[in-house]
Amino acid sequence: MALDGPGGSGKGTVASRIAILRHWRILDSGALYRAFAFRAQELGVLPDDLPGIQRVLAETNFDFAVKKTGEVGILVNGNDVTTALRSPDAGLAASTYASKQPVRECLITRQRFERQAPGLVADGRDMGTVVFPDATLKVFLTGTLKIRALRRYKQLMEKGFSATLAAVEQEVSARDEKDRSRAVSPLEPAKDAVILDTSEIGIDQVVKKVDDLLTAKLAQGNNG
Ligand code: DC
Repeated sequence: MALDGPGGSGKGTVASRIAILRHWRILDSGALYRAFAFRAQELGVLPDDLPGIQRVLAETNFDFAVKKTGEVGILVNGNDVTTALRSPDAGLAASTYASKQPVRECLITRQRFERQAPGLVADGRDMGTVVFPDATLKVFLTGTLKIRALRRYKQLMEKGFSATLAAVEQEVSARDEKDRSRAVSPLEPAKDAVILDTSEIGIDQVVKKVDDLLTAKLAQGNNG
């Protein structure tokens, strides 16, 4: 299933909870873009350098592991960089590299590789529109900027980053704008996506709603 939406909409939490419930695989495509940008910067490869981008991919193993906490851990060439990649700077760098078509093309195969039995929960911005257009279920989570920024702020505090709520709100808003307005694979719901506003409902209710939608789709005979 495809789970898309802007930052702080709850998709990461919902994706890992559904994956754990169903014993399905999980693809945190935002983490892949964050890891890619991190590695590109490490190798001194700029966003428009096509041969450089191909070299980043050739010289790097990107692996994911769902931790006991439900958080998706990211390994770059075997090193756990999960915490470093959660910083606002890493998010912004990911958004910049992700706006380039060659970067997206290079990462599409890596993302589709994750679609294996018994099923995949794919979380991102273009899972339902571009990467898995035939997904069994497509859900697009939304929420007000204020609520999403507050969630991001709390996550950053829990991870020991220092930030102010106003700065986080500004960062979330700028990244939304960047992701929505780009020419390639912009952040937008697929035409056949179910749109859920998570501003006023608790995460447990969102998980239940998405899981019920998935059960209904699977009962119709669709897989994955
Ligand atoms: O979900 P996230 O905050 O970890 O994503 C980081 C950035 O990566 C996001 O601002 C845009 C980019 N991204 C993307 O372009 N396409 C995706 N499928 C996932 C993330």
